[in-house]
Amino acid sequence: MKTVKIILAMLLFIVLGIGLFVWSGIYNPGADSPHWKITYTLMQTTRERAVEQRAAAITLPTNLYDAQLILKGAGQYAAMCTSCHLAPGMKDSELRPGLYPLPPNLSKVSVDPREAFWVIKHGMKMSAMPAWGASHDDATIWSMVAFLQKLPGMTPVQYREMVAKAPPDEEMGPMDDATLPVPGGHTHGGHAHAGD
Ligand code: HEC
Repeated sequence: MKTVKIILAMLLFIVLGIGLFVWSGIYNPGADSPHWKITYTLMQTTRERAVEQRAAAITLPTNLYDAQLILKGAGQYAAMCTSCHLAPGMKDSELRPGLYPLPPNLSKVSVDPREAFWVIKHGMKMSAMPAWGASHDDATIWSMVAFLQKLPGMTPVQYREMVAKAPPDEEMGPMDDATLPVPGGHTHGGHAHAGD
């Protein structure tokens, strides 16, 4: 009986402690205040393992390397992803440096196609990565995955040519030139500097 009482008292103590921590407002939720190394490692490992597990069940489409699919993905990427994941020739965006966790530069790092599909479709809690499955069908998401397989190492010129050849997007209307990485695009700083 005595041990049971001690365990219950300890549990109560822990619950009260957590309650006090939450209620006190002591935790700094600012995106410019990094996690402790241990917290970050735990979160990243949880995320990586969870994505690996879920991605393993996904079957790759047979037409993943179809040229048209890749071109469609190029248009999608240029329209929706570069402010966070950059593009060849883009140094940085105005948005990206303030994000925590920092989105990977997908013009430099390659991603596993199944894992990329899962993350693009479902997004990632407590990060800025949206669940694109809320507004895009699987076929469109696969086009982005197909393009991501080609993106790392692409030159700014190759990138620009692909985006220019991308088919118009039925879901969003014709591509707006402002989303293309042409030099002298209408905004300053953040968008679309192809660098040549
Ligand atoms: C508002 C910022 C933002 C936008 C826009 C965005 N992402 Fe992300 N994305 C993130 C962040 C942040 C992460 C990292 C999440 C993490 O590490 O927990 C991420 C992760 C990913 C990953 C996983 C990378 C890896 O190494 O596992 C892929 C793939 C990805 N995004 C693709 C896309 C695509 C494709 C688009 C456009 C349709 C897009 N993202 C738009 C912020 C963004």
